[in-house]
Amino acid sequence: MMDMHVTDTDRPDPSVMELIAARPSLSMHAMDGLLLDDVPLNAIADAQGTPCWVYSAGTFRRRYRLLRDALAEAGIAPHIHFAVKANDHLAVLRLLGNEGAGADVVSGGELSRARAAGIPGERIVFSGVGKTAAELTLALSEGIAQINVESAEELEMLSAIACGMGRTARIALRVNPDVDAGTHPKITTGLADNKFGIQAGDVPALYARAASLPGIEPVGLAMHIGSQINVMTPFLAAFRRMAILVQALRDQGLTVRLVDCGGGLGIDYRGDVTSTPAALAGAMKAELGGLDVQLVLEPGRWLAGPAGVLLSSVVLVKQSRPRPFVVLDAAMNDLLRPSLYEAWHGIVPLSAVEAAHMPIDCDVVGPVCETGDTFARSRSLPPLQGGSRVAILEAGAYGAVMSSTYNARPLAAQVLVDDGHWAVIRPRQTVDALWRDEVIPPHLTRQG
Ligand code: LLP
Repeated sequence: MMDMHVTDTDRPDPSVMELIAARPSLSMHAMDGLLLDDVPLNAIADAQGTPCWVYSAGTFRRRYRLLRDALAEAGIAPHIHFAVKANDHLAVLRLLGNEGAGADVVSGGELSRARAAGIPGERIVFSGVGKTAAELTLALSEGIAQINVESAEELEMLSAIACGMGRTARIALRVNPDVDAGTHPKITTGLADNKFGIQAGDVPALYARAASLPGIEPVGLAMHIGSQINVMTPFLAAFRRMAILVQALRDQGLTVRLVDCGGGLGIDYRGDVTSTPAALAGAMKAELGGLDVQLVLEPGRWLAGPAGVLLSSVVLVKQSRPRPFVVLDAAMNDLLRPSLYEAWHGIVPLSAVEAAHMPIDCDVVGPVCETGDTFARSRSLPPLQGGSRVAILEAGAYGAVMSSTYNARPLAAQVLVDDGHWAVIRPRQTVDALWRDEVIPPHLTRQG
């Protein structure tokens, strides 16, 4: 299971108080209940209802600076491109852009979002295994920093498009380093039989081809081996392969100015032992530091995950054997990760009184008509009742971005807490907005 793969699955779940203590943005106030950056989450739930995503601007900033400073201390100062797929809200992109972050995008839509949030083209890199001609055209017209090319076929297509536009595409070849990231199979991307990247053996010939093609300027190599990686071994192995390839290309007389190390740094969901930015920086320096290349990073989860919670209310507690079902008003359509990857997310009551009660064993589920709509099985939680509220933790990455309106459930509201204040950054979707763009063909309405 994804979040437990590299850790000890037998150790007990962290308690509610342990979860809070390990998260600098959270605290429990006797009267006001759970606070995010000193703002009572109950006040937000009172005003906005639930389910509701709440992000901490302070956490985004703090983590960005921690990462940047750890890298600078190692003396490698890579360009940091936030992986927009983790959280694509314009306010989040603007906030990180203001800190100096660039963007890593994987679609024309994400590229347009990054631009709409004010991130300049020269701070955008474009990854992805199936960029369309229209997306490549957009990337070239926005003059983005670099396109990470994932196949020989894409390279030829890009050359033709760039020539047609009279532009030059700066490209990095995405290498598939064939390294097992040791995470959930659905988010491992650097194994030879994954669809991503170019197999290392094919890189020298393709890089030479790129250098000879009109409209193409190869600037370096890129990689991304997977996500929620909590140990350094796979990163070290992949970086070493990249270094060997850079040397091989240079031996052929080719110019390599840049290595894009992708994302993947894991976070603590369940008291997990994680890697640190300092360890990542050390690995980058050890394997790539002597190459005289500009380094690039594409972190998503590490920056965004701990910056968000999903607030939800208990609809009812269904007594059952072997244990009760706590039925929430949030569901798999809001936060898909537990259902899709069996991911473990901390669940914390908003009430200090409830949080202090002796825990019992329960299942926490959503109301959607699928058994997979389960947030936690056999979780030890203080007893909850209809109307109780909870925060689901580490919901800032791959949360709202993966939401759907399945079961005709409108998209939840989103709120940003910043410096003691909070603001709605996306109102709850209205029910009629669900079908606003749907058309009933006239011949159907004429009948009867
Ligand atoms: N760069 C590329 C090319 C990627 O494909 C990804 C993530 C990242 C950077 C950012 O990786 P991160 O730093 O966030 O690990 N939905 C899944 C995660 C999918 C990640 C896909 N690629 C989840 O909820 O766990």
